[in-house]
Amino acid sequence: MGAVRHRLESVVDEAHWDAAYKRLTASGVSWYQPLGGLSIKLVTALQLPANTSIIDVGGGASTFVDHLIAANFTDVTVVDLSNAALEFAKSRLGPGAPVEWIHADLLAWEPKRSYGLWHDRAVFHFLTDASDRTLYLDRLASATARPGYVVMATFAPDGPDRCSGLPVARYGAEDLTDLLAPIGLRVVASCREEHETPSGEMQPFTWVVARRS
Ligand SMILES: C[S@@+](CC[C@H](N)C(=O)[O-])C[C@H]1O[C@@H](n2cnc3c(N)ncnc32)[C@H](O)[C@@H]1O
Repeated sequence: MGAVRHRLESVVDEAHWDAAYKRLTASGVSWYQPLGGLSIKLVTALQLPANTSIIDVGGGASTFVDHLIAANFTDVTVVDLSNAALEFAKSRLGPGAPVEWIHADLLAWEPKRSYGLWHDRAVFHFLTDASDRTLYLDRLASATARPGYVVMATFAPDGPDRCSGLPVARYGAEDLTDLLAPIGLRVVASCREEHETPSGEMQPFTWVVARRS
């Protein structure tokens, strides 16, 4: 695949994610977490000003955005390939919610601005092709402000090898450190989390916080 992601692939992927959200609903998908989890804990620990621009890539129907609004962040963007997922979040938060919703394929999307915090929980690990990872890292590099932070979570090396019926790549903190270093992002913290799915299955995740100076 070249620099432009193939349109047909985006359409197939979008149908997959739309179907998953419609079948299971926002709170029934395996990645659902009701309380914002480590996402909000790590962001809180960064003590960012309330006007920090924050983007949740592949945010889907996640409640992370609800927690950001409750914490008084005023510049919040969610980008996702699945319109069904975004509709769950939009209807939960209501029409006046101070959120920019972007329905787009992250790998074809051209960021128009940079963000003080890039958040990705369980999205990067779906990129099993090196060319897709390059497209992602290009966007991450151009959309992260200086200074800026990245909070990223993937399945850990001993995590599941599939999610939502799709193969995933698994990472330890050192793997993510090595991936982020060439684009000027230095990992400043990392941890492991056992995520409990709505059906009670445990899924080990690797979390990293990286900083661009
Ligand atoms: C496992 S879910 C995680 C959702 C959310 N981050 C959370 O923690 O609840 C993966 C999300 O990535 C989205 N996604 C997958 N591929 C994408 C792409 N190429 N561009 C944008 N979003 C994508 C899916 O629609 C889905 O919402």
